[in-house]
Amino acid sequence: MPIAPVPQSSFQPAQKAFPVHQLTVRTLESKEARLQSAYPNLVMSGRSALTETTLSAPPLEPTGSLSVETVLSVTHWNQHLFSFTVTRPASFRFRSGEFVMIGLAGEGGKPLLRAYSMASPSYDETLEFLSIKVADGPLTSRLQKIVVGDQIYLGRKPTGTLVADALIPGRRLFLLGTGTGLAPWMSIIRDPETYSRFEQIAVVHSVRTVSDLAYRDMLESLLADDPLVSEEAAAQLTYIPTVTREPFHTTGRVDALMRDGTLFQGKLGEPKKFDPEHDRIMMCGSMGMLKETAAMLDGIGFAEGSNSKPGEYVIERAFVG
Ligand SMILES: Cc1cc2nc3c(=O)[nH]c(=O)nc-3n(C[C@H](O)[C@H](O)[C@H](O)COP(=O)(O)OP(=O)(O)OC[C@H]3O[C@@H](n4cnc5c(N)ncnc54)[C@H](O)[C@@H]3O)c2cc1C
Ligand SMILES: NC(=O)c1ccc[n+]([C@@H]2O[C@H](COP(=O)([O-])OP(=O)(O)OC[C@H]3O[C@@H](n4cnc5c(N)ncnc54)[C@H](OP(=O)(O)O)[C@@H]3O)[C@@H](O)[C@H]2O)c1
Repeated sequence: MPIAPVPQSSFQPAQKAFPVHQLTVRTLESKEARLQSAYPNLVMSGRSALTETTLSAPPLEPTGSLSVETVLSVTHWNQHLFSFTVTRPASFRFRSGEFVMIGLAGEGGKPLLRAYSMASPSYDETLEFLSIKVADGPLTSRLQKIVVGDQIYLGRKPTGTLVADALIPGRRLFLLGTGTGLAPWMSIIRDPETYSRFEQIAVVHSVRTVSDLAYRDMLESLLADDPLVSEEAAAQLTYIPTVTREPFHTTGRVDALMRDGTLFQGKLGEPKKFDPEHDRIMMCGSMGMLKETAAMLDGIGFAEGSNSKPGEYVIERAFVG
C-alpha cells in the first residue's frame, strides 16, 4: 500500500521555538535522506524532524524484546486523539486486531512502554496506531509530540484476543468500540480476510464529542479509497458512529443502540437483536461498556472466546482489569 502524504499539520517548524544547531541539522538531514531512500513514496516537507523531543533525546537502542522504529506520519484528530504510522521491521508478524508494547525512553534511559492495538491491517508495510493524549500520562504526554523522523520502541511480540481466530465462524460480525477502542477495528476492517469470514461487518464507535470520531471520513466512505477492500466493504461493511455528549444523528450509548435496534440497521438485516447462533462480537474500550455488555451477552447464551477456545464473543482482557 502506498504511504500516504504526511499531513501538513504534523510539521512544527522548530526554528520558531528552538535555536537549531548546525550539527543537529546535518544529522537530521541525513536521517531524512535515509528515510527517503527506504520509503521512496514518503513525502517530507518542512523541517519535520526538528522538535524539542528529537533535539534533546539520544537515539534509542534496540534490545532483545524491542526494535527501534521511525515515525513516518502523524495525524492529530483533536486535542485528545492522534494517530501515527511507523516503519515495520520485516520480522514483525501479527494478526489483524492484536496489540503490542510501544514506547519512548523513560527515566534513566529505561524504556517506558504501554500496550497499543495496531490500527493497520496485518498485510500493510507500515504500522499504524491510534492514541489518546493524557495530559499527565507518563507516555502520552510525550508521545503526542512526536513528528516525522522521531524514533519509538516497538515490542517484538504482538498478542491479543481481538482476532478472528478466537471466534467460531458466524454470519454477522459486530465490532463494538468506545474511544480509542476503535483502533483494532481499523485493522480488522482493512483486512480482506475479514470479508471472507463474515457476510456482514458492523463497526460501532461510541465517543463523547463529534471530533472524537477519528477516521470518520474513511469510515463513512466505507473505505472507498482502499483498493484492497473497497468493493467488499461497500457490500459488507456498516459504520455506526454515536456521539453521547453533543448533538449528532445518533446519541445513545452502545447498550441503548442494542435495545432500540439501531445496531441492526440497513444491510445488517435480521434479526434485530443479537443471535448467538449467527452473530459474533468483538468489544474494546471503556471498562464499564465491556463488563456490562459481556454480562448481557453471557445472559443470552453467548460464550466468551479465546485463542485456545474460540467462542461467540471476545474482549481484550487487559482492558477489563
Ligand atoms: C491491551 C491494551 C491495548 C491498548 N491499546 C491502546 C490503543 O490502541 N490506543 C491508546 O490510546 N491506548 C491504548 N491502551 C492504553 C495505553 O496502554 C496507555 O494507557 C495509554 O497510552 C496512556 O498511557 P500514559 O502512560 O500516557 O498514561 P497511563 O498512566 O497509562 O494512563 C493514565 C490514565 O489515562 C486514561 N487512559 C489511558 N489510556 C486511555 C485510552 N486509550 N482511552 C481513554 N483513557 C485512557 C486512564 O484513565 C488511565 O488511568 C491499551 C491498553 C491495553 C491494556
Ligand atoms: N472529548 C473529550 O472530552 C474527551 C475525548 C477523549 C478522551 N477524553 C479523556 O479521556 C478519558 C477517556 O475518554 P474516552 O472518551 O476515551 O472514554 P469514555 O469516557 O469511556 O467515553 C467513550 C464512550 O464510551 C461511552 N461509555 C462510557 N461508559 C460506558 C458504559 N458503561 N457503557 C456504554 N458506554 C459507555 C461514553 O458515553 P458517555 O459519554 O455517556 O459516558 C462515550 O460515548 C476521559 O476521562 C477524558 O479525560 C476526553
